[in-house]
Amino acid sequence: MTRIDPHSYFDDAQPRTTSWHLRLNVDFDRQVLDGEATLLFPKGVQGTLDLDTRGLTIHRCFVTATNGDIPWELAPEEAILGRRLRLELPERCMGVTIAYETAPDASGLQWLAPEQTAGKTHPFLFSQCQAIHARSLVPCQDCAVARVPYSAEILVPEGMTAVMSAGSKRDEEGPIPGTRLFHFDMPQRIPTYLFALAVGHLASAELGPRARVWAEPEVLPRAAWEFEGVEAMIQKAEGLFGPYDWDRFDMLVLPPSFTYGGMENPRMTFLTPTLLAGDRSLVDVVAHELAHSWTGNLVTNATAEHFWLNEGFTVWAERKIKAALFGEDNALMGWAIGQRELEQAMARFQDQPDLTKLRTHLEGIDPDDAFSSIPYEKGARLVALMEQTLGEAAFDGFVKAYMKKFRFKSITTEQFCAFVEETHPGLLARVDIDTWLHQPGLPATAPVFRSPKLEALIAAGEAWASGKRPSEAELKAWVPSELLIFLQHLPRQLSREDLTWLEATLQLTARGNHEILVEWLVIAGGSDFEPVFPRIREVLGSVGRMKYVRPLYAALGHHERTRALAREIFKSASRTYHGLTCRVAEGVIAAY
Ligand code: BES
Ligand code: ZN
Repeated sequence: MTRIDPHSYFDDAQPRTTSWHLRLNVDFDRQVLDGEATLLFPKGVQGTLDLDTRGLTIHRCFVTATNGDIPWELAPEEAILGRRLRLELPERCMGVTIAYETAPDASGLQWLAPEQTAGKTHPFLFSQCQAIHARSLVPCQDCAVARVPYSAEILVPEGMTAVMSAGSKRDEEGPIPGTRLFHFDMPQRIPTYLFALAVGHLASAELGPRARVWAEPEVLPRAAWEFEGVEAMIQKAEGLFGPYDWDRFDMLVLPPSFTYGGMENPRMTFLTPTLLAGDRSLVDVVAHELAHSWTGNLVTNATAEHFWLNEGFTVWAERKIKAALFGEDNALMGWAIGQRELEQAMARFQDQPDLTKLRTHLEGIDPDDAFSSIPYEKGARLVALMEQTLGEAAFDGFVKAYMKKFRFKSITTEQFCAFVEETHPGLLARVDIDTWLHQPGLPATAPVFRSPKLEALIAAGEAWASGKRPSEAELKAWVPSELLIFLQHLPRQLSREDLTWLEATLQLTARGNHEILVEWLVIAGGSDFEPVFPRIREVLGSVGRMKYVRPLYAALGHHERTRALAREIFKSASRTYHGLTCRVAEGVIAAY
């Protein structure tokens, strides 16, 4: 037995699935997917096959070609992993089909009632498989090493559209009246966590020759405007990292309960609507998800223990794209904002220093609980240090060679290091790689990103405590990322008078830019400033993005009255939150 991933029953000594074919019916009434998953093998195989499942009801397993039943057994539920589905494949088996259905509370799906959508008329369904939720949608070898191409037929109610992390082939009237059948094909080998499906009342707008944005019709014009520059972004990224390999870069703007800012599902990036700031100031999330098309989707972390390879490289790549598009100063703002997120994450994991290492050991730990800004920002700083050490031109060559070498492969930190040592002997030692990978905290050698402008913004925020306010004109001249850095450096508790002045000058409560809005609500809510309570209620009542939910609930812990407010909001909002958002909010409130 060769288990290589602490979060999967995938056994490298067993036959490896080499493609999937799915036929699924999207049942909004019962809130389940039901149908069949066919797992194919490249040549006839035989013997035991262990698959990951979570919450799945298995109806039947059979040899695809002959329809002959295959003995199967679902092992008891194991914490984090789910239930192992063990099949005994007869000899020369080329494919197995599993008839099954998902659970209404599948961890990788969110079923939304019409009230949770912009249109309020149709329900909505979307998936989020990273890190280990694909198994709650499809019985599979749910490990990033077992990459698969897939095809799918998705049956949905008439009037609704299905999109997937795949090429859309065609759609036609379904076999049952009042249904529509959508066909998809993903010819490239993807890790299972990039499997994705969404169904809703959707419309789309063309943004360029290979990009289109999907959203509910009510949201679409704003989405199309916000992301209009995506083709220019793809071209810059190609200049930096080589040709874009995934055919199309379409995007889907989800309802606000989506737990992340963005998810790099290939050919269909999923995005939170909180990016629709109305000023294109939050497109760095699009740059990030686009960058994953190279770092993450082409070269993939083998398991969640190597997550920094995905996210650290992608944050670094995202800032390269931003520098190329908007200038070095703009990228610098990103590094500065990230610095603060990194410090906060280090503080949050004070009692779990092992989770502040880049190369983690996650046996017995749910990857969702290990998630933080550390692999992102500490990882990006390691990549930046390697770049500084080698020089930009040489590092550019390294990155291209790295991507060429490991295209469509899923690799470990150790494989990455071996490749660095092979191509640039001595570089690992020069950056003191062991400290970066295996020691907690941020190494003293971490690059620090500064500029006079940045210093001035930080100083302006910090000077507030000694009674110095920037002038109205100064405040109003700052672009959103500058204002955000200033707000981030203000004291966490401000007087009523200060808050009233800030609000009168900047109208922060009405902002659509959620980075600024939430930073403001954290300060004002955390200072027990009741004029913002209705807006906090509104945000926490609809937005599921954990980046906002966590600090907002935490800020409400500072005062008796706001603690009561938080509990009251949670009580009604928790019914609509995804399980993950629920767990995060619950944990924060329990710590009051
Ligand atoms: N792949 C991540 C989101 C993710 C990570 C989901 C781990 C589940 C488990 C995505 O690319 C991401 O990093 N999103 C960030 C964007 C930001 C760093 C620009 C987010 O959602 O905030
Ligand atoms: Zn990412």
